[in-house]
Amino acid sequence: MRIQIINGPNLNLLGMREPEIYGNKGFDGYLQELRSAYPEVQIEYYQSNVEGELINKLHEVGFSCDGIVLNAGAYTHYSIALHDAIKAISSPVVEVHISNVHQREEFRHHSAISAACVGVICGFGLNSYRLAIEALVAER
Ligand code: DQA
Repeated sequence: MRIQIINGPNLNLLGMREPEIYGNKGFDGYLQELRSAYPEVQIEYYQSNVEGELINKLHEVGFSCDGIVLNAGAYTHYSIALHDAIKAISSPVVEVHISNVHQREEFRHHSAISAACVGVICGFGLNSYRLAIEALVAER
């Protein structure tokens, strides 16, 4: 099974960025933990701060991998282009957020991509990614 994790804007700064919200662990270390927890799953990772590059990545992997775990960062809240890209591909996409966006500012309560995704996981810290992988593995 092949799963692609895609992280959007500012998530390259995990571990340094607002640690009281996003924790103090960088994604690279967490990715190693995920890979050892799921040795049977090929877990690929991509991060970009650029909306169009996230769309290109969805197009590139979205017809061949078994599932995509997408944290679109702030693009979540307004990118219709990402919504359309998720609709355009055939791989199932799980929307994830590290923080519970519903406990935060009102502008984070709306997601432009949820309706295009198979499910949404938020609020469990970095564990949100593991729960999304768990869901994709179970759904397979
Ligand atoms: C986030 C929540 C978004 O509102 C925010 O813009 C992010 C991170 C999260 O993982 O909690 O960049 O997607």
